[in-house]
Amino acid sequence: MKFETPATTNPIDQLKVVGKPTMRIDGSLKTTGTAPYAYERYDVASNQAYGYVVGAAIAKGRIKSINLAAAKAAPGVLAIVTAENAGKLGKGKFNTAKLLGGPEIQHYHQAVAVVVAETFEQARDAAQLVEIDYAREKGFFDLAGARELAKKPEKGKPDSAAGDFASGFSSAQVKLDETYTTPDHAHAMMEPHASIAVWDGDKLNLWTSNQMIDWGKGDLALTLGIDKENVRLISPFIGGGFGGKLFLRSDALLAALGARAAKRPVKVSLPRPLMFNNTTHRPATIQRIRIGANTDGKITAIAHESWSGDLPEGGPETAVNQTRLLYSGADRMTATRLAVLDLPEGNAMRAPGEAPGTMALEIAMDEMAEKLGLDPVEFRIRNDTQVDPEKPERPFSQRQLIECLRIGADRFGWRIRNSQPGKTRDGPWLVGMGVAAAFRDNLVMKSGARVRLDNRGVVTVETDMTDIGTGSYTIIAQTAAEMMGLPLHKVEVRLGDSAFPVSAGSGGQWGANSSTAGVYAACVKLREAVTQKLGFNSADAVFEDGEVRSGNRSASLAEAAGDGLVAEDLMEYGDLDKKYQQSTFGAHFVEVGVDASTAEIRVRRMLAVCAAGRILNPQTARSQVIGAMTMGVGAALMEELAVDKRLGFFVNHDLAGYEVPVHADIPHQEVVFLDETDPISSPMKAKGVGELGICGVGAAVANAIYNATGVRVRNYPITLDKLL
Ligand code: MOS
Repeated sequence: MKFETPATTNPIDQLKVVGKPTMRIDGSLKTTGTAPYAYERYDVASNQAYGYVVGAAIAKGRIKSINLAAAKAAPGVLAIVTAENAGKLGKGKFNTAKLLGGPEIQHYHQAVAVVVAETFEQARDAAQLVEIDYAREKGFFDLAGARELAKKPEKGKPDSAAGDFASGFSSAQVKLDETYTTPDHAHAMMEPHASIAVWDGDKLNLWTSNQMIDWGKGDLALTLGIDKENVRLISPFIGGGFGGKLFLRSDALLAALGARAAKRPVKVSLPRPLMFNNTTHRPATIQRIRIGANTDGKITAIAHESWSGDLPEGGPETAVNQTRLLYSGADRMTATRLAVLDLPEGNAMRAPGEAPGTMALEIAMDEMAEKLGLDPVEFRIRNDTQVDPEKPERPFSQRQLIECLRIGADRFGWRIRNSQPGKTRDGPWLVGMGVAAAFRDNLVMKSGARVRLDNRGVVTVETDMTDIGTGSYTIIAQTAAEMMGLPLHKVEVRLGDSAFPVSAGSGGQWGANSSTAGVYAACVKLREAVTQKLGFNSADAVFEDGEVRSGNRSASLAEAAGDGLVAEDLMEYGDLDKKYQQSTFGAHFVEVGVDASTAEIRVRRMLAVCAAGRILNPQTARSQVIGAMTMGVGAALMEELAVDKRLGFFVNHDLAGYEVPVHADIPHQEVVFLDETDPISSPMKAKGVGELGICGVGAAVANAIYNATGVRVRNYPITLDKLL
């Protein structure tokens, strides 16, 4: 089905099931520990052996020699795979560095061997006996030092401009020119990367933990040099991804290679201390922002330049994204620059681009409001735009930023905030409030599904869509229930298997809207099949209460199914939506307390107001947003991969050293969704919220700390030493 904008009225608009706060249909499996994750699939093959990954001990250089003799002789060892004996390997489309390194080493902890043994302990012991002699080469590991060498990336859209920034900025009455930094971040999802590989002749079955089934299937085939049709990926439950599982990783490849070498099913999990340097991370950024405005508070000129680093052939962190679209101003420019660094591979992490980009821009807006003597809520409202400021002929499909700010300010009690920093006291605490706008693009991806109606009147949905803890199972069930006129318990959902139709997958906050639109398309076909079989007029057919009715005739879906009816379709999008800019908007409000003598920082209250199209399930959407707000607090106050600039690795590579918020760090959180439908986005009229929720949180915390203390910190994370 091809989507034609704007979406017309359709069965989803009834909102009998969709749009209702609904508990996760997979919730009891999750909370009782009975949702099996990849590593726990003892049921899929007997005789499973264990693979233990060896990571490179240098950041850049070559392996001179590997001595496997002692490891091979260790008890229980079945096989050891290295680049020397793995056969010819290709490289996946989505990987920058090789997943099995050697002889060339591209980054620290790049996998260089997998040791397969009868037990996990035997594999781990033998892995310590692998002797590798390295020739270390000099690498570049310091973004600040490499900034001068940064270049314009070849791919994407690194630069943009409108008007004449230089002259606009020089003639502005009030100016800001500041530089902000964000550090490298780790996804730090709970479930490590893990896979079980089972070969059946030349066919490979892989139980794994992956957000994008079809990308993973394609890249595994490319890397192994086998036919894509000979690979099956199965990933029905995922314990968090945040972008770290968008792509094929070493656990999957090494399980496949280990299983081929050992002629046994092999399971591989990345040990936690290997994950931070072996897999991807969100790259650090240096961001320079210049804003010029007139004394009436109108921005006349705005520029945002961002520097980040990655391995050769890698990509930049696109931190300027939101600055192209968020505020008005005739004279503007953005630029993205990329330095070659020999640190582990940088890549997408929750709201890539906008998450670190809003951390900088939204402090700059707070600073500028202060220079202008304006309230920061009012300053943002004054510079709203309903069109793409770089291409004024393109309106936003929906944009309720002003409403988010106004409603948020009202709900949060913003009027009692003292605009003078450092003046509000609560016992030992200096108290402050901060605000930031939230912005994240709304991406839409084609997505397919198959639906089956059986003689129990039950509809089964099959799609390779994943649920990374987001609630995909539930919103897909709600969609099918609404379309077929069934209660929720009459829908079964099967996800995360490449044997099912290819979906949008879980990434870039496109999953909810895109995958349910694919289910919508398949259900439109199933409705047609039902009416055709019954000889009903499809134009006036109503699907309700487990029945289909047309004129004075009716039949239960169970009767209509007979031996079963199956329909499959794909929702595809043409160019029509190019006429509009589709984005999601929000406002974050944060209150902090800072201990006046120790500078300990405590978040006291948080509020997010989101305008993100139709909210398919307010309960799971709220969970997405409070999780994202929590991650934003981590980025503001704690998270930082510490770079060893001599040896080129992330020093704090476990959850003891890489700090993330715990329950005690997170206070009362409130989430408000504006009542919105966006007929440009899809027949679901929905958008994404899972990434919107993190965008702006860091700056709202930073701005609250400034309001509490009068200390402006421009280098994240804002640890207490930076306030003293
Ligand atoms: Mo997201 S960073 O595209 O999983």
